[in-house]
Amino acid sequence: MNKILSIVAIALLISIFGFQPTPKAEDPKVLIDLGKKGAEVPASLYGVFFEEINHAGEGGLYAEMIRNRAFEDKEVPTGYSVVNGELVPPAVKNHLSGRIEKNTFKWEKETIPAWSITSKGDGASIHTTKTQPLDPSTPNNLLVKIGPAAAPAILANTGFWGIATQKGSEYLLRFYTRSDNYTGSITARIVGADNSIIANQQVTASANGKWKEHKLILVANASQSKAHFELVFEKSGTFYIDYVSLFPKNTYKGRENGLRNDVATFLSDLKPAFIRWPGGCIVEGITVSNRVEWKKTLGDPMKRSGVYDTWGYRNSYGFGYNEFLQYCEDIGAKGMFVCNVGLGCQYRMGDACSDQDVDFYVKDVLDALEYAIGGTNTVWGAKRAKAGHPAPYPLQYVEIGNEQWGALYNKRFDIFYKAIKSKYPQLTLISNHGLGKGVKSVTKTDMIDPHWYVGPDFFFKNHNLFDNIPREDYKIYVGEYACNQRVGGGNMLAALSEAAFISGMERNSDLVKMASYAPLFENKNNREWPVNLIWIDNDKVVGRSSYYVQQLFASNRPSYNVFTQLQQPKLDKPIPLKGEGGIGLGSWITQNEYKDLKIKIADGNVISPDMSVGNGWIIPKGDWKNASSGILSQSSLESMAAAYLKGKSFNNFELEVKARKTGGDEGFFVMFGMNETQQTGYAFNIGGWGNTQTTLQIIEEGVTSEAVAPFVKQEIKNNQWYTIKVIVKESVAQLYVDGQLIINYLPTPAPRQFVISGYDEKTNELIIKFTNASSEPYRAQLKIDNATQVESKGVAITLAANSLKDENSFKEPLKIAPKQTSFDGFSNDFSYTFAANSLTVLRVKVRL
Ligand code: AHR
Repeated sequence: MNKILSIVAIALLISIFGFQPTPKAEDPKVLIDLGKKGAEVPASLYGVFFEEINHAGEGGLYAEMIRNRAFEDKEVPTGYSVVNGELVPPAVKNHLSGRIEKNTFKWEKETIPAWSITSKGDGASIHTTKTQPLDPSTPNNLLVKIGPAAAPAILANTGFWGIATQKGSEYLLRFYTRSDNYTGSITARIVGADNSIIANQQVTASANGKWKEHKLILVANASQSKAHFELVFEKSGTFYIDYVSLFPKNTYKGRENGLRNDVATFLSDLKPAFIRWPGGCIVEGITVSNRVEWKKTLGDPMKRSGVYDTWGYRNSYGFGYNEFLQYCEDIGAKGMFVCNVGLGCQYRMGDACSDQDVDFYVKDVLDALEYAIGGTNTVWGAKRAKAGHPAPYPLQYVEIGNEQWGALYNKRFDIFYKAIKSKYPQLTLISNHGLGKGVKSVTKTDMIDPHWYVGPDFFFKNHNLFDNIPREDYKIYVGEYACNQRVGGGNMLAALSEAAFISGMERNSDLVKMASYAPLFENKNNREWPVNLIWIDNDKVVGRSSYYVQQLFASNRPSYNVFTQLQQPKLDKPIPLKGEGGIGLGSWITQNEYKDLKIKIADGNVISPDMSVGNGWIIPKGDWKNASSGILSQSSLESMAAAYLKGKSFNNFELEVKARKTGGDEGFFVMFGMNETQQTGYAFNIGGWGNTQTTLQIIEEGVTSEAVAPFVKQEIKNNQWYTIKVIVKESVAQLYVDGQLIINYLPTPAPRQFVISGYDEKTNELIIKFTNASSEPYRAQLKIDNATQVESKGVAITLAANSLKDENSFKEPLKIAPKQTSFDGFSNDFSYTFAANSLTVLRVKVRL
């Protein structure tokens, strides 16, 4: 080849195969040793967490197109009331604090959500009524009055922020009418945003005072996304309407009462190993009486009561227990059922059923398991068979309670574990414990379930968290995690920080056997939770970059890990600390006392604040009193009890205080750098995580959040005075306990490059997953040891963004999506430039 030709040929090869430049000695190195086999990476690792939050099911996965179909949406839960437009729960005692919490919750504003009436003349009205219910479980129906001058009148439903139709598709309509005097016709139709009639059919009502069912098929003559539904009454009269339901015929796998095809397919593209249902906080309810009751989610959807959802709207129970199990089977996932243990949400009202009533809840979960996997000769197995599914469903996991803690939970967990295990030894039972000693309070659990909702630095800094967790006789299911702070609606920075954390989970797959991002879905019109994995509107589904991170990990799961090490230059110098602000004392589910507080301020003077409650302290939470003079004591067992020194701000100071724990689960909090409203700042959490660890945490929205310093083992003993000293300077925050330096926090940038690799025995490939969360391309030298042969040609799959702030959107759903290219340059010592802001999967054919 002459010189010019060879230059052209090389340039061509570079553009086709992304040929990489010659390595340099100073390049970072990735050492991979196929001879050093790590843990098996189990098929169970990557699953999904479903909860009815953000209209995830209603107006999301569940294909029902009519909102408030049974007119139950404003049914006030039993024992609750609505005061000044807020939902007020019954006065129940919090079993941790012993108090009646004064909380109010969101209540829908519209009088009859989604429904309205218009008429030609005056005199048409609608009201909900409980006269002659269609079914006792759904007491409300709609009374429609059309006065003599009003006809014709149009009753309209908006759907879930519009109704989407596909030209030529069929829609199954079912509704009920009852009247004594209406003899005219009723036209059911779908009407476009441009007022065009998309589908249209007539029925006649009957005037015999009895409910009449109407079932029709509407065929759409146009594709529209913002249509609505109408029932048109040609004459005047009075009648009742109930259960107006419209479904696409083309649901996922054509199931009746099924799921939206596009959404269910998009979710199944994640290839989830398991699905968790029904949540989440909704398992617990605002109070126990408001929990999800699976038995009420079975059978004819018209007869399902629904429940006012913990997240502020009604759950019709349409996507019920049977639909969940069926979907698991349809996509080859295992089911995880989460049961209530007679406890309401401990972050909300925290009520508990009496000990005598616990049996009811134990029986309830045993019945649920019998429904899923019991023989057809059992009571609940027979009901499953009657519902059309004699074979058992693929249910494998039971989580006992959701996000519960404390002595009462531990006691109940033992009861549930024993009852379920003795009947179903093959099932994996999961407790709510996080990392730490809390789990030692139960007799036995198969798995624990720590949760993390944090900012990106937490995941970057804790990419190796699981490397150091002691191996015990239980495994870990990371049931909820997401980077959801300071990342917009969920940008590439969030996604890559999750990739770093997931890499740590996969590397430790001898311990972490399962994980699920949360929450899963958001209807774009109802973001209840800040950041969610998949966005939905009427006719579109959008995966955030985090969705593609999940997909890349799940579909590039090796059979086992191999030794992988990134050797790179040291990270930068410390960065300034935002330590200026107010100070405070507090605790987490712990009772304690504080005295002898002294603060040496920047000019060298020492101040000794008055410790009297009511004298200079702001108390957002906790039961703070002066047990004796000079002692500030906190006696409630709630999370984030706090007392802040009023109107004072400190910078460059030394604080000393004596602290004693008198009861509860953990140790002490010392806060500093707090803003004026006590919403943001820092807290030294001393004896946190079930009284096992000390660290420095960021405070956000008034609550401790991500840990920014390394965790240090520490246990705080009851009834012992400790001397706590906190020093805060320009670039350092230090914590001393009894004279010993525990934390020396120098804020440093978190690492931004992470790598894991493993071997896929099915395809004989080495799978390397490299995260580069920096805005510069990152060139590394990769060395593969103990491979007999490395094929030069392979595959690179890259998920990259132009900026870490980039997000996918409805307008640009695939702005950040994986791209697969060929790469011809693999060897047992090759260099590769990982794109800026990227997660890259390299699949290399290797002979061992
Ligand atoms: O995922 C959202 C909520 O976060 C879940 O309902 C709950 O378990 C956690 O607090």
